[in-house]
This record gives sequence, structure tokens and C-alpha cells, in this order.
Amino acid sequence: MVRLPTALLAACGLLAGRALGALDVDLNDPASIKKAAALVAEDLLSFYHGDEPGWVPGILPGPPPDGDYYWWQGGAMWGTLLDYRNVMKDDTYDDTIFQALQFQVGDDKDYNPANWSASMGNDDQAFWAFAALLAAETGFRDPKPEQPQWLALAQAVFNEQTNIDRRVEGGNCDWGLRWQVYRTNNGFDYINTVANACYFNIGARLHRYTDNSTYGELAEKTWNLMWRLGYITEDYDVYDGAHLPDCTGINKAQFSYNAAMLLQGCAFMYNVTESDEWKERVEGMTKGIIRVFFAQDGVAFEPSCEPPPGSCNSDMESYRGYMHRWMANTIQMAPFLRDTILPVLKTSAAAGVKQCTGGGNGRMCGFHWTSGQYDGQLSASLEMNVLGALTALMMPDVAPPLTNTTGGTSKGDPDAGQTKTELPTFSPITTGDKAGASILTILIITGALSAFAWMSLD
Ligand SMILES: *[C@@H]1O[C@H](CO)[C@@H](O)[C@H](O)[C@H]1NC(C)=O
Ligand SMILES: *[C@@H]1O[C@H](CO)[C@@H](O)[C@H](O)[C@H]1NC(C)=O
Ligand SMILES: *[C@@H]1O[C@H](CO)[C@@H](O)[C@H](O)[C@H]1NC(C)=O
Ligand SMILES: *[C@@H]1O[C@H](CO)[C@@H](O)[C@H](O)[C@H]1NC(C)=O
Repeated sequence: MVRLPTALLAACGLLAGRALGALDVDLNDPASIKKAAALVAEDLLSFYHGDEPGWVPGILPGPPPDGDYYWWQGGAMWGTLLDYRNVMKDDTYDDTIFQALQFQVGDDKDYNPANWSASMGNDDQAFWAFAALLAAETGFRDPKPEQPQWLALAQAVFNEQTNIDRRVEGGNCDWGLRWQVYRTNNGFDYINTVANACYFNIGARLHRYTDNSTYGELAEKTWNLMWRLGYITEDYDVYDGAHLPDCTGINKAQFSYNAAMLLQGCAFMYNVTESDEWKERVEGMTKGIIRVFFAQDGVAFEPSCEPPPGSCNSDMESYRGYMHRWMANTIQMAPFLRDTILPVLKTSAAAGVKQCTGGGNGRMCGFHWTSGQYDGQLSASLEMNVLGALTALMMPDVAPPLTNTTGGTSKGDPDAGQTKTELPTFSPITTGDKAGASILTILIITGALSAFAWMSLD
């Protein structure tokens, strides 16, 4: 190896093994976390063009092959930024977030715009509802009276997914929520965890926000179904789902967002009910998540697709950011878990930050946090992950989510949403339409065939 003069090394940013501009943060110093998070937020927004002429507001470039991202990831990004702005008290992106969340509501004000119906999953719709609900819970600026309101939007999605035409009637899968919204979409007969866990999560949070226990009862009914079907096990492993007719032959792939959205829902149920049953569940989910997704030195890892050669797509690469945020939110709702969860979030965030040394600015983040090194990737998903991880560190110390009686001002409509699920007559088919937010179709196409070859294919 040629020895270079120290000055030259420093100029190249290679001194102490650190690239120039690497994301520098002291995780014990809130001011430092805040500064770093602001940079990551800026880097995340560099992938978004929806506020520029000629682009569609609300969405990241896509869907594939027109760009890397599916529609749902727009909703996921606004949720990430809503948590960020609330925790870090940074209103820089408020107008952008507001415009995005209003633009994608669709003709029926239910986050089911006709443009995306050919790949609309109940989970896709739910990720936008998560953002709307978070807007209500964090006191984000309310829309004008004639515009759709945050709480009503979340209720619209929940109500539509309660309808029987989104569900299975009778048999072993009775009352299971289907993955896809429309009969004609691949995956209409896949009864998966993500769709049901999203519904569970929204129900638990609506229960707390509105103090209407009907939401909680429907959430609990969904939890019980997933438990009975074995999608959630006694050890709190969380599997991906199973097909009709009988929801057996479960696909045992585990993804962090499934478990984390169940965890967050359990935490809300525990907070409202204060019952031993929900205490046991939120505790069980916490232990399960730490065991399955932080097995490697306490750093977030996606066991079903990350091991070499790696088959995680852009969707899967974004899951851990949500996991960090929802674990932090769990500390707010179930403070007895603080000492179990917070150290994990810290260790993992430190590893996440450490590998942010890439891109033109020398601080872009990769996916493989356990490796300790930037992997050369550039993606909104990867910036979202680190932004979520930094936000999560400070979330337990800010005010908990609002409710209707503790300062929340969002107006609801218990009857929001459509009572029937009908495919819009105008439904443009775009190139990337065969797959939505959930993942199996893509997973199978893109080479995880060996791992999942035994499961039935759509
Ligand atoms: C639907 O697609 C059209 C054509 O690309 C676009 O002009 C419009 O803004 C899109 N609407 C939504 C809600 O995405
Ligand atoms: C409570 O929620 C249920 C389910 O959406 C709804 O039917 C009912 O009208 C709500 N009750 C009140 C008082 O808002
Ligand atoms: C519910 O959440 C509030 C707000 O964070 C918290 O003070 C309270 O202790 C929680 N309830 C339980 C039973 O942990
Ligand atoms: C809160 O709930 C009560 C009772 O359902 C209702 O009368 C009131 O309008 C709600 N407040 C808001 C801001 O929606």
C-alpha cells in the first residue's frame, strides 16, 4: 500500500476511516441527534419531486419500472416525516407533507385513488391512513373545513376494511382481511398478516383517539384471528400469511414491519384497557421482535431477505425505519417497557448512522447496518430508516399521541368511507401494476424462489 501524506488523506476525508461529511452524531446529545436528523430529512426529500412541475404530488418516483417506489411508500414517507417534525420540532416540511396527504385522498376521500387501483392492497391504503392518523395524534395543522380531515380519512379506511366485501366469509379464514382490495388483482385470495395487522393497528389507535370501544373490539377480533390461524405464535414469531381456501400452509417468512405494527397496536390496546392480557401481548411482541430482528449484535436485520446474496427489494429495505419508530411509540404507550426497548434502539441506531458515508455528500445511508460499512446503495427507503431510527431515540421523551380529549383537534366522521368496494370504471393500467405494498409476488419474481418455492403461488 502506498503511503500518502496525512494532509492529503485528511483532504480526501479518509483520516480515521471516515469519509468527508459522514453523518456525525453523538447519540447521547439531543442537539446532535436533531442536527443529524435534519440532514437525513433533507437527504430523504432529495428523492421526492412531487412538489415540482410535471410530477404527481404525494408519491416517490414509480411504480417500477418507472421508478423505484410503490404508491404506499409515499404514505410511509409522510408518516416518517410527521414523527420527525413532531419529535424534533422542525416545521420545514409542513407544506410539503400537507399537500401530499391531501393530494392522494382520492375521489372518495379514503386513500384509494383510481390511479392505483390495479395494485391496491389493504396494506397500501393503510399506510396512508397511518400517516393521516399520525397527523391527528401529533396535532398537525388541520385542513380547511371543506377539505378531508385527518381523523375522518383514517376512519374511512378502517370502515371500508371492516366491510365484508374486503373479507372472507365462513370457513377457517372467516373474517380474514384479504391482501388485495379488488377481486381482479393477484393476491385477492392471500390472507396475509400485513393487511390484518394494519387494520388491527388502526383500530387500536382509533379506539384510543376517539374513546369508541367498537374500534378496539374489532382490533381484538383481528388479533384473535391471527393468533388462532398461527400467524402469530406462542413465541411471538410473526409469519407472513396463507392462502384461501383454509389459511393453512403458512408462509413463514418474517418481516420486521409486520411484527412492529402489531407491537404498536398492542401498546395502544394496553394503554386504553390497562388489562393483563394486553400487557402480556405487548411484552411478548417486544421480546419476539428483539429476538428475531436484532439478533446480530443488537442491530436491525431483516432475516427473511437480508442474508447474502440478499433478496430485499425497496419495500423490504424500508421496514426497519418503521420498526424503530413504532418501538419508540410503544415506550410512550407502555412505559414499563422503556428499559427493555430503548437500549436496543440506541445500539441499532448507532450502527445505522455509522454506515452513512456514501453518495456525493458523503453521508448517504446504505441498507446493511450490521456490516458497519456503506454498501453503495442510494434510496429513499434507506434515508427513511436512519431518520426513523434517530427520531425514535427522542420520541419517548416528547408528549404522547393526542386524543380527542387531550388536545387533539381533528374532526372525525364515524361513517366515512364507501360501503361497497367497486373497481373504478376508469382504471389506468400502468407498467408496474402487478404488485403492491406487500411483497410476495415481487419476492418470488426476483429470486427468493429457493426459500419460498414450497408455497402456493398466485
Ligand atoms: C393520477 O394520474 C394522472 C396522470 O399521471 C395525474 O395527472 C394525477 O395527478 C394522478 N392522481 C393521483 C391522485 O395520483
Ligand atoms: C363507534 O364506532 C363504530 C364503528 O365505526 C361506529 O359504527 C359508531 O357509530 C361509533 N360510535 C360513535 C358514538 O361515534
Ligand atoms: C398510557 O400512556 C400515558 C402517556 O404516555 C402514560 O403516562 C401511561 O402511564 C400509560 N398507561 C399505562 C398503563 O402504562
Ligand atoms: C370529541 O368527542 C366528542 C364525543 O364524541 C365530540 O362531541 C367532539 O366533537 C369531539 N371533538 C372533536 C374535536 O372532534
